[in-house]
Amino acid sequence: MSLPKYASIDGEIIEWENAKVHVASAAFKFGTAVFEGLRGYWNSDEEQMYLFRMEEHMQRFEFSQRFMRFSDIYEAETVTQKTIELIQANKFKGENLHIMTTSYVSGMGGPGVCGPIGLSITAQERPRSDRVLGGVTAQVSSWMRVPDNAMPMRVKCNANYNNGRLATVQAEADGYDTAIFLNSRGKVSEGPGMCLFIIRDGIPMTPSISNDILESVTRDSVLKLIEDIYGIKPIERDIDRSELVAADEAFFCGTAWEITPILSIDRINIGTGQIGKTTKELQDIFFATSEGRKKEYMSWCHPVYG
Ligand SMILES: Cc1ncc(COP(=O)(O)O)c(C=O)c1O
Repeated sequence: MSLPKYASIDGEIIEWENAKVHVASAAFKFGTAVFEGLRGYWNSDEEQMYLFRMEEHMQRFEFSQRFMRFSDIYEAETVTQKTIELIQANKFKGENLHIMTTSYVSGMGGPGVCGPIGLSITAQERPRSDRVLGGVTAQVSSWMRVPDNAMPMRVKCNANYNNGRLATVQAEADGYDTAIFLNSRGKVSEGPGMCLFIIRDGIPMTPSISNDILESVTRDSVLKLIEDIYGIKPIERDIDRSELVAADEAFFCGTAWEITPILSIDRINIGTGQIGKTTKELQDIFFATSEGRKKEYMSWCHPVYG
């Protein structure tokens, strides 16, 4: 895939090649940075790009910066405007996008350094992956999800992602597509970069937010869609490891993973080992919603053009 022409650094549109961070910065040395990954969905009928739940992503972005005690906070309004400017400068049309907004400590010093703060934004074309459409296999990881009182997963701090890296690399080395973490209490937590739902006897459920997960925007969307469409309130609670395999259907959800069916866990089929009926229905509704094709959810879609 070709690289975009421009990135955005500290609010300025610059050539992609010049988007650099100093090797002595805390961001580089310690991963002292927080980010949001979000998507632009192209609606070909309207010739419009919609940023999916930009407001909620930006609320979380502000929270992460405050939590990490950054000396300055890039606010939602500024980052939204700069993101739109970048997409327009790159003239992205016709394909979905993956966007990253990152606020980072460019200051040099020890791990306690709190500023100055830089802002980078990148946007790249990213078509829907085959995994989203075809489903994945997962391994319950031998790596534990980092607990909230060590490095809180609800804060989208770059350094947190090495926990997910270890589990991903292990899962791939063992012949799986991805991993599922258990937390320090042995309960199901989430995937390396996505949350998880199971459906058991017709009841959708997902680990509650006190299971060391990121408070996912997609998870929140799925909770609302399930309630609106099926008239049932999904259950948010502790989920045991053995319940994963007792499930009739299971799927991951997240900005990058959208709604991705889980076909098997630890090589045991989930249901029939095919994409579940409800999972497929939810996937279709989620795609339509994020492309701005569902009038009742237009408040989730932030237009880029016009
Ligand atoms: C650890 C983790 N969990 C869950 C998610 C899903 O969150 P969201 O739906 O807000 O993208 C992500 C997404 O980036 C993530 O990194």
